[in-house]
Amino acid sequence: MSSDHNSDTCCHGSSENSSACSQGAEACHSEGRRDFLFMSAGAMAAVGAGSVVWPFVHQMNPAADTLAMSTTEVDVASVEPGQSVTVMWRGKPVFIRHRTAREIEEAQSVDVATLRDKQSDADRAEKPEWLIVIGVCTHLGCVPLGQKTGDMRGEYHGWFCPCHGSAYDTSGRIRKGPAPKNLEVPTYTFLSDTLIRIG
Ligand code: FES
Repeated sequence: MSSDHNSDTCCHGSSENSSACSQGAEACHSEGRRDFLFMSAGAMAAVGAGSVVWPFVHQMNPAADTLAMSTTEVDVASVEPGQSVTVMWRGKPVFIRHRTAREIEEAQSVDVATLRDKQSDADRAEKPEWLIVIGVCTHLGCVPLGQKTGDMRGEYHGWFCPCHGSAYDTSGRIRKGPAPKNLEVPTYTFLSDTLIRIG
């Protein structure tokens, strides 16, 4: 039987050989001290890491007042009916579309009860001629097509997500494909007829 084995079996109380155990007593003591030092060092490392990491993570979270202030103002006076602009807000594209009379009519004539995510156009567009939505597909987050002239806009004439084929209507509501929700409408305010504050 090796001394390593003696030490192991004595330290864990499973040996039936008491003389072998007395020879290994010093080894047990040393091993126990090593275990203790190891655990202490580990515990201190964990506490140390915790106290260093927390302020760092805390600083990375924007304070509530910083978030509240992150707004974007857009003057859409030069955007003609049938045109769109994209602005970035809080790191996301926001689609602003100057809808044509036909697009408004299409959006308002839909029977809300038939929609996957039931929202009337009036609930989504404060002024019917301006639709403002976050340009992120509610399926897996691609940016849908439909902002540029000549873009594919899908069979509901709004936006089309090329990633997996979700089609949104002229109110940005999901009409076909895997996306579960309408394009999100951000908080916004008209500061004048054409000046919009997003956020
Ligand atoms: S991410 Fe748009 S359909 Fe999948």
